[in-house]
Amino acid sequence: MNFRLLSGDVLKLSCSTLVLGVFEGEGIKGIAGKVDEALGGVITRLAQEERFGGELGKSVSVNTLDQIGAQRVLVIGLGKRSKISPDTFRKAGIVVARKTKQSLGNVVVGFETDKQDGYVSAFAEGFILGGYEFDKYKTTNNKRETGVKEVGFLWAGLSDEVFRKEIEFAEIVSEATNFARDLVNEPPAVLTPTKLAEIAKDIARQENLECEIFDKEEIERRGMGGLLAVSRGSEEPPRFIHLIYKPRKKTRKSVAIVGKGITFDSGGLCIKPRESMRTMKMDMSGAACILGVMKAIPRLNPPCVVHGLISATENMPGARAYKPDDIIRTFSGKTIEVVDTDAEGRIVLSDAISYAVKLGVGEIIDVATLTGACIVALGNYTAGIMGNDEKLIQRVIKAAQRAGEKVWQLPMDDELRKEIESDVADVKNVGSRWGGAITAAMFLEKFVENTPWVHLDIAGPAFFDKGSEWNPKGGTGFGVRTLIRYLLER
Ligand code: BES
Ligand code: MN
Ligand code: ZN
Repeated sequence: MNFRLLSGDVLKLSCSTLVLGVFEGEGIKGIAGKVDEALGGVITRLAQEERFGGELGKSVSVNTLDQIGAQRVLVIGLGKRSKISPDTFRKAGIVVARKTKQSLGNVVVGFETDKQDGYVSAFAEGFILGGYEFDKYKTTNNKRETGVKEVGFLWAGLSDEVFRKEIEFAEIVSEATNFARDLVNEPPAVLTPTKLAEIAKDIARQENLECEIFDKEEIERRGMGGLLAVSRGSEEPPRFIHLIYKPRKKTRKSVAIVGKGITFDSGGLCIKPRESMRTMKMDMSGAACILGVMKAIPRLNPPCVVHGLISATENMPGARAYKPDDIIRTFSGKTIEVVDTDAEGRIVLSDAISYAVKLGVGEIIDVATLTGACIVALGNYTAGIMGNDEKLIQRVIKAAQRAGEKVWQLPMDDELRKEIESDVADVKNVGSRWGGAITAAMFLEKFVENTPWVHLDIAGPAFFDKGSEWNPKGGTGFGVRTLIRYLLER
């Protein structure tokens, strides 16, 4: 995709689609008003007919019959002017990408805003995200040569330099997100732990990261008993993945970002019912997020060392599978009583988190499709955020807001902590049903020692079986945009 900054008369610019924005309740004004006038008021007429009032996400479109340079005009709603933010333009970009998917040629977008800091970037980000589709396995896809080749911006008062910077950032971030989506959408027979590790190695080679992969024997030798236990019911061997980014300028600041990489979660011996098992290829969305971030950051140069850690395995009910009542010795030395083999994510994460602690990092952020309970609590569109350091939590929340990803903090209620006390081990892997997202976080907390730590439970927003207003069907790449912004602004 080619993005260009344009200038000139909006009526004379030749393009296949001219995109114009209007604010809710303000009528067809500004550039849109000028174009409307040149077209004899057809846009105003159409807006009335279709009851289009500039609401965010809505649009009207007309053929110009060559009365102006553009062949078609697409007027999109930007919502209320008072609510304008980068997210307005990210959503506008998504709408435009979807509406122009079947069209050929070039799009010109003309917006008028007082302040444009981050708006162009957000629009380009939305445009690349909105064009995402996972269709590589469709053989009868009438893949015609459709698709927009170029997007021109008619955006007054923007310098070329700022424009280039904004576009570059948008491209890096949205391509990393689409990369994570691809990983999530791959079928589980293709995206095994072994394959995930190979992909990590490829990223390391391409982006000049350090990379260490532990195979089953090495995982055993290192005493990562959690990851090993969960992997035992599967024919696929586990992998532990460690990528390291080091900034050009030496620094002592370091962060570990840790991902849950269950490439398929059958539930193990506590097997899931059939309806819940479908979509469980998505249980490596945390790992996909980490790989997306690690792929992007060498091009953005955040000023801290970043360790990307992933525990990758299937959770299967094979003959050698780990069992309820088993007691596992983890990498940290702490023991876990297994109550439910379907609460496997926290077990494999415990080893990765302890590994991060041993590395001596300054902060740990883990990303995991950890609990159905988090979806019950917050719905499908919002991730749960918890941790042991209020300042760090607030910084991640701020980054998520800038990224346009919804997160909501759940309380680490001290009265709930007793739920995961075990009579025979240091901790057990489930509490009661109530507050399941919180007790899962409290389980992880046992392994972070004194390191400032944040946990993102992305079980809801990581995957949409049917697609949603602002996300495609399947993997969403949730977390990539938040973590990149977090790392850049620390
Ligand atoms: N991977 C699931 C959580 C999940 C559920 C993610 C739905 C996305 C959508 C996790 O491993 C799991 O099975 N959790 C159990 C925990 C329970 C056994 C305490 C759950 O949420 O039911
Ligand atoms: Mn599970
Ligand atoms: Zn799981």
